[in-house]
Amino acid sequence: MDVILFGPPGAGKGTQAAGVSEALGIPHVATGDIFRRHLRDGTELGELARRYMDAGQLVPDDVVVRIVATRLEEDDARGGVLFDGFPRTVAQAEKLADWLHEHGRRIDAVIDLDLADEVIVARLGGRRTCLSCGATYHVVANPPASEGVCDRCGGEVVQRDDDREETIRARLETYHRETAPVLAWLKDHARVHTVDAAQGIDQVRADILAALASDS
Ligand code: AP5
Ligand code: MG
Ligand code: ZN
Repeated sequence: MDVILFGPPGAGKGTQAAGVSEALGIPHVATGDIFRRHLRDGTELGELARRYMDAGQLVPDDVVVRIVATRLEEDDARGGVLFDGFPRTVAQAEKLADWLHEHGRRIDAVIDLDLADEVIVARLGGRRTCLSCGATYHVVANPPASEGVCDRCGGEVVQRDDDREETIRARLETYHRETAPVLAWLKDHARVHTVDAAQGIDQVRADILAALASDS
């Protein structure tokens, strides 16, 4: 199954991805996580991505599409993928649909995590992220068992560079201008389920799994 987790920054895509990817038995592919891994490893791609990420802007489509295509060629991605943070433009969505079609696959479902801007700002301001595995926490809603240490892998848990207030606002603007319109495209090309992302983490997960089960 190929599933897209869609929604604004801070809607809970990363938080939900772990449970959903496990339940569906498909790998979690998050373009933001891929860029942050490159940044950490000091690659050329990481340097290029940093300029856009720090400004709250989108990395150019050709770069994004290339890294996703490379990821999709890996063995574990053959049976489907859970996309997080991709596609973010109509051009990316079209390329994805073409790639899936060429491989006898399609976008089986889209989960649209719906959340108001005020809630987003509060969530991102309190977010903490694992430097090693990308797991996401929140200082109030979802802290790691031991402060600064990842529950999942023992890595260091820190604030993301782009979670500063000015950058959060820029990311939201970018979302409304460039990414929100992708939802209309997705509605024309796949089944879209809207989930109320303002609920607790467990309820959001339950709603996502129920929506996906109703598809199969
Ligand atoms: P990316 O890493 O994808 O960031 P984003 O879309 O801004 O989304 P976030 O990761 O900030 O939010 P999330 O929905 O995962 O929320 P989370 O689960 O962490 O992209 C970063 C940058 O990379 C982009 O700005 C761009 O520059 C570039 N990029 C990436 N992909 C690209 C693409 N396809 N094209 C072009 N450029 C691209 O949750 C947030 C917080 O809320 C956490 O603290 C969490 O603990 C808490 N929380 C979650 N759910 C709940 C809940 N139900 N109740 C209470 N708290 C909750
Ligand atoms: Mg995320
Ligand atoms: Zn970790």
